[in-house]
Amino acid sequence: MLSSALTYQHEFDRRARVALAGCGGQAFRNILPSFRYAPLDLVATCDPVPGRAADYAKLYGAADSFDDLGKMLASVEIDAVFLATGYDENSAPRHPDQAIQVMESGRDVWMEKPAAATARDVERMHETSERTGRLAGVGLMKMFSPAVTRVHEIIQRPEFGRPSSFFIRDPEALPAPGSRDDATMMWLLDHLPHPASVVHRLMGPISRISVERAHNGAAFLVMSFTSGASGVWHMAWGQSELSNMERIEVVGEGANVVVDNNSRVTYYRPGHHGDGSGGYGRIGDYTSPLDEAPLHWEVNQYSGQPYNANVFVQGYAQEINYFAQRLLDRAPVRIGGLADAWHVARLFEAVRAIGDEAVDLPEAPAWAAATTAGAAS
Ligand SMILES: NC(=O)c1ccc[n+]([C@@H]2O[C@H](COP(=O)([O-])OP(=O)(O)OC[C@H]3O[C@@H](n4cnc5c(N)ncnc54)[C@H](O)[C@@H]3O)[C@@H](O)[C@H]2O)c1
Repeated sequence: MLSSALTYQHEFDRRARVALAGCGGQAFRNILPSFRYAPLDLVATCDPVPGRAADYAKLYGAADSFDDLGKMLASVEIDAVFLATGYDENSAPRHPDQAIQVMESGRDVWMEKPAAATARDVERMHETSERTGRLAGVGLMKMFSPAVTRVHEIIQRPEFGRPSSFFIRDPEALPAPGSRDDATMMWLLDHLPHPASVVHRLMGPISRISVERAHNGAAFLVMSFTSGASGVWHMAWGQSELSNMERIEVVGEGANVVVDNNSRVTYYRPGHHGDGSGGYGRIGDYTSPLDEAPLHWEVNQYSGQPYNANVFVQGYAQEINYFAQRLLDRAPVRIGGLADAWHVARLFEAVRAIGDEAVDLPEAPAWAAATTAGAAS
């Protein structure tokens, strides 16, 4: 995705007319800047904070601004709405009800993560999407990052073997059982979609989880996958604010791949030290033949290429371009759609409910079982 030459926004022949609801930090930093690489025309903005929608409209060239989503939907000619409205005063995501409102008005919808706090709310959106024929996309950008996309390709190669075990490190705090109300859980609800969507993209549905929780909320989440693989998520709460946050490793059968800091990928291909003739105690060469050597990529910070920009390293530009293309082509949203959001919400609910015992996760309904793990586009 976007690994071929980029097209700038104004160069697309066909562009969807879209609006933004929720003129906050995420829209400013990542969503609107990503529009510059997608076939989208921003025609309206919406935010209840006085002046904010107008400021964003001016900055990004939209003709109209509104203080209410309903008023905007009734007034402008648009194909889709991008939602980044966050949480209400009860710490509940605003996205499910608003996404349904947008689809009921006959428009497609894209919403920031979290799509919802419950799998049931994702199902409600899916039901509306099915009935209205409108598309829904969810901002699970890490599924689109170059690092995760490359790992996804590598682990499907025959020489990698079947993925057998998986590790992800991402700092999260899991409140103690008994103190997991909506307000206390909001931080985890907000952050869990990032690693959870990576887990889902690479390893597919989880069948069983258990947790070892430390006194401060740091935890190890142990996962069994329906594929037969197993994995662990180190929720490294308590780390320095200055530390990198992420590390991912997938092990196959005679090969493994490691991602550090979402910006360095090392693929340890099947191979041998030296020429392969020596056993333990008989090898004097730590290198390998070139055609077996590990492959390594990292962000090249030298140039002004877009690949150095945050919106590309993190996958924001890719997720928005993908949704925009799907919208114009009337094609199903197979990556970062409601099926993925269902698995993320189901994991959040399971983690929220878990105590000392391991729990089996409910199976996905048929529509969400057709998961993006393995989907190429
Ligand atoms: N993918 C990422 O990396 C990432 C990063 C940060 C935030 N986010 C997500 O983006 C969303 C927004 O987060 P944020 O940090 O921008 O929050 P924010 O509080 O800065 O912005 C939210 C904006 O929505 C507006 N709003 C509230 N109700 C509205 C309504 N009914 N109609 C229109 N606008 C409304 C608020 O006034 C505010 O301006 C959250 O869901 C958050 O999880 C994603």
